[in-house]
Amino acid sequence: MPALVFMSTSSSTMRVLILIVAMGAVLELAPQAEAARAFFVFGDSLVDSGNNNYLVTTARADSPPYGIDFPTHRPTGRFSNGLNLPDIISEEIGSERVLPYLSPELTGQKLLIGANFASAGIGILNDTGIQFITVIRIFRQFQLFQQYQQRLTALVGAPQATKLVNGALYLMTLGGNDFVNNYFLAPISQRSSQYSVPEFSRYLITEFRKILLRLFELGARRVLVTGTGPLGCVPSELARSGNDECDPELQGAAAIFNPQLVQMLQELNTQLGSDVFVTANAFDMKEDFISDPQKFGFVTAKVACCGQGPYNGMGQCNPTSNLCPDRNLYAFWDAFHPTEKATRLIVKQIMTGSTKYMNPMNLSTIMALDSRT
Ligand SMILES: *[C@@H]1O[C@H](CO)[C@@H](O)[C@H](O)[C@H]1NC(C)=O
Ligand SMILES: *[C@@H]1O[C@H](CO)[C@@H](O)[C@H](O)[C@H]1NC(C)=O
Repeated sequence: MPALVFMSTSSSTMRVLILIVAMGAVLELAPQAEAARAFFVFGDSLVDSGNNNYLVTTARADSPPYGIDFPTHRPTGRFSNGLNLPDIISEEIGSERVLPYLSPELTGQKLLIGANFASAGIGILNDTGIQFITVIRIFRQFQLFQQYQQRLTALVGAPQATKLVNGALYLMTLGGNDFVNNYFLAPISQRSSQYSVPEFSRYLITEFRKILLRLFELGARRVLVTGTGPLGCVPSELARSGNDECDPELQGAAAIFNPQLVQMLQELNTQLGSDVFVTANAFDMKEDFISDPQKFGFVTAKVACCGQGPYNGMGQCNPTSNLCPDRNLYAFWDAFHPTEKATRLIVKQIMTGSTKYMNPMNLSTIMALDSRT
């Protein structure tokens, strides 16, 4: 075809040039679209990026000083001073921040990035978080995920949609509220009069197993599942106990629940014949900086940056609360949730931690494995 290239009329030359430029653009875009892995997030306030902004609920983080260190310096609904766990994982896997499913901005090409269905206040059980009124419980999050898949299919067709859903990374953060906002919510709760802590934990594991199998049915093939953190050591619990010690009951509950979770996920993987579920040991990841905050550059892992009362652990974080000037010096942002700085330490372990932290393997290993298939 040299004749075409050497044609001398200027309009033909222009056409060839435009063609070359257009081809260049396609070539440049294609590898990017191929490389970005979609990311789907399910769970509670530790991973909610703003769904609760759209709900009638008291579990919300949409007023200052939430978001004070976010790129926009405004509240977004994240329970953090800045970025939260899904945001930093997105950074690490090289994709854009995932939008909350209820955000009106989540349309068109944005659907290809993934979606965040998490809602602050929810738990494994349907009766967890009823005090927060309309939160999106886990089975409802799955219904919305099905709705998402229909919208995705309309956009890219069924084969591409299935490929995106099967090839995506998933994050499931659930369980803490079943203890904090259910079993231990009152001195005598309905659940605590029904079950001992080990019985309740076994019940939670049974229900969590059903939830994770449902997620598998919906197409998930790589799911990071976070265990519960040191629930008894959050500023809220320190304020409640008042003796400067982590609450032993909540610590004991986490110590029962987490190993059962690891075991259940191992059994599920064996049953499915594949390492679909990967446990992130949030307890040990957080315990590291709670037991030795100075080692990680924090001045305290007991006092929250934002709040009031002892340890800044009482009530809400809001415009009238105490606010620390440097959030990088605090492990806890509010009475329950870590700062962005602490969350970065957690993600570091998720990416490269040993089997003490990530079972059966860390996310950098997963990314390397999955890029080969
Ligand atoms: C929770 O609700 C869903 C439906 O919304 C139901 O399928 C599930 O069985 C319920 N779980 C329990 C433990 O009752
Ligand atoms: C975790 O990541 C590091 C470095 O990326 C790697 O050397 C190590 O073997 C991984 N550990 C596991 C258990 O996957």
